[in-house]
Amino acid sequence: MTRFAYVNGRYLPHDDAQIHIEDRGFQFGDAVYEVWSVRSGALLDAEGHFGRLERSLGELRINNPKSRAGYRLVIAELLRHNRVRDGLVYLQVSRGRARRDHAFPAASTRPTIVMTAKRIDPAAAQARADQGVGVITRPDQRWGRCDIKTVNLLPNVLAKQAAKEAGAAEAWLVDGDGNVTEGSSTNAWILTADGVLVTRQADQGILHGITRATIMSRAASLGYRVEERAFSVEEAQSAREAFMTSATTFVTSITRIDGRPVANGAPGSVAIALRAAYLDSL
Ligand code: PDD
Repeated sequence: MTRFAYVNGRYLPHDDAQIHIEDRGFQFGDAVYEVWSVRSGALLDAEGHFGRLERSLGELRINNPKSRAGYRLVIAELLRHNRVRDGLVYLQVSRGRARRDHAFPAASTRPTIVMTAKRIDPAAAQARADQGVGVITRPDQRWGRCDIKTVNLLPNVLAKQAAKEAGAAEAWLVDGDGNVTEGSSTNAWILTADGVLVTRQADQGILHGITRATIMSRAASLGYRVEERAFSVEEAQSAREAFMTSATTFVTSITRIDGRPVANGAPGSVAIALRAAYLDSL
């Protein structure tokens, strides 16, 4: 089956979908993106992701080329073209195409919109979550505005590759104080020995995960105490549970950190319950 992508108003076969060589996303990484999970044809946490998209664009002073309704129409059409019921939608908006110059181009420059969709097998994703995954730790080498979801992901790419080469699923990024900021493409959580869920405060040092925010409120309504604060690698290694959240992994247990088992090395009951609560509420 041919896959289709959306580029600036047109639905094109993947192999024919192109942007200009002087697109600022390509030249400077001058672009933002969003990823939605799709389950049974519906976008998960749709409004949260639209809200963050608008915020990322606003922080970078890129004009938002579409309304939420406009994006939704394109997403629905793209899911239909690609026959996606369960999968992911990727959206990128760049500052557009202009003669290469670091400063912003003319205000009339049209932002570039690219969207793709792909299928995911929910059973395979669940099987991975049932197993739990390992993480390694790496220094956090990113810039000071990780709250903006830009396509500048080179430190994340290098960290994820290091994880892959070490046989782990994710890299947890560690700041200069020895505290975990987040994963290369996921937010980081632990459950302390006294049953408190801890995830780093949403400042400019991490991406404000949409799944993270939903899990925070689900956890609170299930009666768990949630603290937003920094935690160290040592605290995580001696935690009762560790897990990650994102649009692509929902809630996935972390069973090893730098090769050391977390608790008994099996997925913990709280992470399993939170994953179920997240998926049940859809
Ligand atoms: N990544 N932290 C980082 C650095 C991320 O890139 C992501 C998402 C998250 C989780 O955010 P959310 O819950 O809103 O998906 C945290 C996406 C999925 C990606 O880059 O593919």
